[in-house]
Amino acid sequence: MIDTAMDRDVLIEIKDLVKHFPLGGGLLGSLAGNKDAVHAVNGVSFTIRRGEVIGIAGESGCGKSTTAKLLMKLFDPTSGTIEVDGKNLTMLKGDELKEYRRRAALMFQNPYESLNPRFTIERALHEPLIIHGVDDAAERDRRVRKAMDDVQLRPADYYLEKFPHQLSGGQLQRVVLARALILEPDFLVADEPVSMLDVSVRAGILNTMKDLSAKRNITVVYISHDLSLIQYLCDTTAIMYLGRVVEMGPTRTVIQDPQHPYTQALISTIPVPDPDREETPIPIKGGVPSALNIPSGCPFHPRCPYAMDVCSTAFPPAVEVNGVKVNCYLHVKGKTA
Ligand SMILES: Nc1ncnc2c1ncn2[C@@H]1O[C@H](COP(=O)(O)OP(=O)(O)OP(=O)(O)O)[C@@H](O)[C@H]1O
Ligand code: SF4
Ligand SMILES: [Mg+2]
Repeated sequence: MIDTAMDRDVLIEIKDLVKHFPLGGGLLGSLAGNKDAVHAVNGVSFTIRRGEVIGIAGESGCGKSTTAKLLMKLFDPTSGTIEVDGKNLTMLKGDELKEYRRRAALMFQNPYESLNPRFTIERALHEPLIIHGVDDAAERDRRVRKAMDDVQLRPADYYLEKFPHQLSGGQLQRVVLARALILEPDFLVADEPVSMLDVSVRAGILNTMKDLSAKRNITVVYISHDLSLIQYLCDTTAIMYLGRVVEMGPTRTVIQDPQHPYTQALISTIPVPDPDREETPIPIKGGVPSALNIPSGCPFHPRCPYAMDVCSTAFPPAVEVNGVKVNCYLHVKGKTA
């Protein structure tokens, strides 16, 4: 067995998480009887342990960012639960919710959207401290300078009076990282944090993020299309397809010995640095179906080269193979996890 709910190392327990976005104007649409909805997340369950770095990968539209936003309580789930230290996130209100906002930090893809263009970097970094009651300006200044030093924005005085448009994307994402870490969170969700940046600055920012989170034992959920980055950064990898996690386990095993046909196809597209080894990309039939009309059973069945009759009946149960949980009927033979 991989996880137990009673495990004291468990920070976050996600159970049967569902998020549907009704079409035609949210609440008004539902009141008007509009039953169509985008099925962004369709029953995701997994456990996040303290200090773990989890990578979530999958094609565009498979529900990665929606899962991240649910984890940050930017909206509530349609059904299912997220428990943090045993407390249901949906129930958090007032001071408990404020404390969760301090503990859980978020980095988005686009640093320009994360920062108010009218605020100087100094104000952007002081703001979270003010919101969380650090009233002493000298103490705030000390913490801001320390955070800037940690993310290698040196000398701090050069950056403090600048506005976002006066900095490069890489410098700005370092400001976002400093702001994410300034309240000493124990949990960070990074949603494609370097995908919009020039390749030349990506490695530096990822290494800073990796070093700081390891030094402070921060639990990280790292979302990316790029499996080679996930391989470099993450202990555990979850592969999502159309709102479901279809394979999850230690990164090394998932990447070197993928069990799910979808994971196998994704992995086959990672460039291999060894000139003696050749990896031929496994073609997947057709495009990703619409999240408005998810295929029955295993949602991958219309594209899967191994699809059987059973595959369109119900979502396959999780089976454990070499320490990895995989949801695929090819592995269901009396060894359901
Ligand atoms: N606020 C919203 N209202 C309606 N539909 C939404 C909303 N947010 C996301 N969706 C839809 O939900 C599905 C999942 O979107 P999500 O952004 O979670 O995917 P993703 O895996 O992060 O994709 P990408 O790799 O392109 O960032 C998509 O079909 C998307 O169009
Ligand atoms: S359950 Fe069936 S359709 Fe889905 S990945 Fe496995 S073999 Fe393919
Ligand atoms: Mg996304």
